[in-house]
Amino acid sequence: MKMKEVHNKEQIFNFLLGRVREIIDELSDTNAKLLSICKLIMDNVPYYDWVGFYLADQSRKRELVLGPFVGEQTEHIRIPFGKGICGQAAERKTIFIVQDVSKETNYLSCSPHVKSEIVTPIFKNGGVVGELDIDSHTISPFTKADERFLKDVCEILSRLF
Ligand code: SME
Repeated sequence: MKMKEVHNKEQIFNFLLGRVREIIDELSDTNAKLLSICKLIMDNVPYYDWVGFYLADQSRKRELVLGPFVGEQTEHIRIPFGKGICGQAAERKTIFIVQDVSKETNYLSCSPHVKSEIVTPIFKNGGVVGELDIDSHTISPFTKADERFLKDVCEILSRLF
């Protein structure tokens, strides 16, 4: 399917899920796969303005470390579980959607442009091995369709870990 034939969000997400599966098979290096998936998602969803991965540090327990990403540089290279939106998602082991970051007190700001954030954990054997973090410059952009899509992406990615 060519992108110009795509008319709604569900169709775009289905198309992107297919591409995610292809990228996983095409490339050999895990970081290259994750970066390519960041670019794919960022380029095709207009209200996604920062797309990146945080990976659970295997040596220092309960800490996330910044992985491949596209978007502005961030000072938040390491995030303890429980801290910020990323750390809270890791601790609670669930997707965390903040439609307006100005209303979230446990938040680590990367850029004044960011208005909302959605963080989706990647699970392996019941534990959090990483997260897909997305920032948006729009307030309340995320719907159930985003939630379903990002959970599906993270489920596919689980087998890389
Ligand atoms: N805002 C995140 C920190 C990571 S940046 O968005 C890239 C948080 O509150 O955990």
